[in-house]
Formats: sequence, C-alpha cells, structure tokens
Amino acid sequence: MTLREWLEKGEAHLRMGPHPDRARRDAELLLLYVVRRERAALLARWNEKLDEQEAARYVDLIERRRAGEPIQYILGETEFYGLPFRVTRDVLIPRPETEHLVEKVIALAAQFARPRIVDVGTGSGAIAIALAHTLTSAEITAIDLSAPALAIAQENAARNGVDARVRFLRGNLLEPIAAAADPVFPEIETGFDFVVSNPPYVPRTDRENLSVEVRDYEPALALFAGDDGMEVYRRLIPAAFAALNSGGFIALEIGFGQMEAVAALLEASGYDNIDFTPDLQGIPRVACAQRPSVLGVSGSRRIRR
Ligand SMILES: C[S@@+](CC[C@H](N)C(=O)[O-])C[C@H]1O[C@@H](n2cnc3c(N)ncnc32)[C@H](O)[C@@H]1O
Repeated sequence: MTLREWLEKGEAHLRMGPHPDRARRDAELLLLYVVRRERAALLARWNEKLDEQEAARYVDLIERRRAGEPIQYILGETEFYGLPFRVTRDVLIPRPETEHLVEKVIALAAQFARPRIVDVGTGSGAIAIALAHTLTSAEITAIDLSAPALAIAQENAARNGVDARVRFLRGNLLEPIAAAADPVFPEIETGFDFVVSNPPYVPRTDRENLSVEVRDYEPALALFAGDDGMEVYRRLIPAAFAALNSGGFIALEIGFGQMEAVAALLEASGYDNIDFTPDLQGIPRVACAQRPSVLGVSGSRRIRR
C-alpha cells in the first residue's frame, strides 16, 4: 500500500477511537513519525510504499492511539511555551493553561534583579525550563518527588540549553531546600522570591470522570491530591510562606472551582495581594499572592522602586 492509502486506513481506524475529530491529524503525525519525514516531503511522496517493518510499526502506533494513549506519549514529544519537551508516561504532559502561570511569573519577575525561584512538582520541567529560558538572570530550583520525572526534566533542561541554570532536587514539596541548606550560611538556601507550582489538584473522587487518556496514561502522582484535590495546597501554601522572602510571591495553578478554597488557605497563611488570573475559557487558573513586606522593606534582592 502507498503512503496515501496507509494514511486513509489509519484515519479510518482512528475515527472509531475516542477522538474522531483528530483522526486525520493523528494518523498523519504517526505516519510522519514512522517514515521520519517532514510533512512537505510526505506530500511529495504520496505514492511511495511503506516497507514491511514500517507498516507493522504504523499499525502498532495507530492501535495505541485508538486505545486512548495520548499522541504526545507515542511521539515522546510535545511543545510548551514554544520550546520542545520530551515526555514519557513518567511525567504529566504540559498543558497550554500552564503557560498563564509562566507569564504571570515573568511579568512579576521584572521587579527583581536576580529572582530566586523554586518550582515545586516540576514534572517534565516545563515551568522551570520556560522560566529559565526567558529570565536569564534567574536562579532556579526545580523539585519533584518522582525520580524518573526528574530525569526527564534534566534531559529537557539540557535540550533547551538551561541545564547550568536550573538545579534539580528530589523530595517532598519544599523539604529538599532545607536538606540542601548550607550549615554555615543557611540563609543561602532560604529566601526565595517566587515559589511556583502546578501541583496535583484533581480530587481522587473525580477519577472515574477523567478521560481515558488522562486516567489510564498520566501518572497518578501528578494528578490526584486527596479526596477534595486540596491536599497539596494545604501543605504547600504555609510551607511556601516560610520559604519566601518578604515581598516574595507564590504562584499556583488551580483547578476548576478551587478559587475560594485556595484564597482561604492563602489568607489563613498570612499572604497579601491575593489575585487570580483566568485562562482563555475565563476559568480562574493562576492564584498569586505575596508574602507581606516587613515594614515596607522588600526582599533582599528586590529592586526598590
Ligand atoms: C500536575 S504535575 C505538574 C508537572 C509540571 N510542573 C507541569 O506543569 O506540567 C505535578 C507534579 O508534582 C509532583 N509531585 C506530586 N506530589 C509531590 C510532592 N509531595 N512533592 C514534590 N512533587 C510532587 C508529581 O510527580 C508531578 O510531576
């Protein structure tokens, strides 16, 4: 069969899967992946044939996609903030909504000469790497509980040329920061200008309502946070307050319907200037708040205006 015939066959098969609307696009992406060609070259060679090995590979990939495996995991690749990221089933696939969090932090970081940023639950490294790529003077630490996720994040940092400027630590929330503290100069390790995080926030009770692609393929550790989805916010929000400089910011991605509960946690921990940024659907998506400045004095590295 020719490439054109394989594409049509692949598309027809995917039309019976969970995303008939994306059948053509996915069948084409998988065909390009198998023949290792750019789209323009494919169009010029419609009448070429797939060899036996390629055909077997294509059939296998189409079957995986039809069963619900996300195309990003099959291709091992996605894009976030205009940068390429390798993704495997050890990491959450970075979502476009999370770019709002990156944008918010970049805008606020203009007040700092050398912002110190920690990304909690870095996964593929999406947020930390996008920030490092734009904020070239920032000092960035990225933490995750999952060792396989950290390995992918480190690979992505190298791929995007920021590995020398992002430090990766493994552990629970902000605990690795304290563990890495210098016993002689402990202040070197405390005092962040930003604690940023897209933590797990799906209520465990919502598991059955998730799409097959998310529920059966993305890591549970990246998704669920107790029965109400608030478990990580409850621990992270006060811990971040202690890790921030006066005048430093916390910026968190939040899920649908979590604005009030997150605002209450931020208030209870003593944060000021709490605000929420909506995503393109108008859903509050980024919670941001500030650790109050002591007597109006800003954090140590903050530029006073
Ligand atoms: C929703 S994913 C976000 C991944 C990435 N930051 C992004 O936005 O695409 C949450 C990440 O938090 C990590 N994680 C979950 N619980 C954690 C904990 N207690 N401490 C540190 N990381 C944790 C997971 O392994 C996962 O990589």
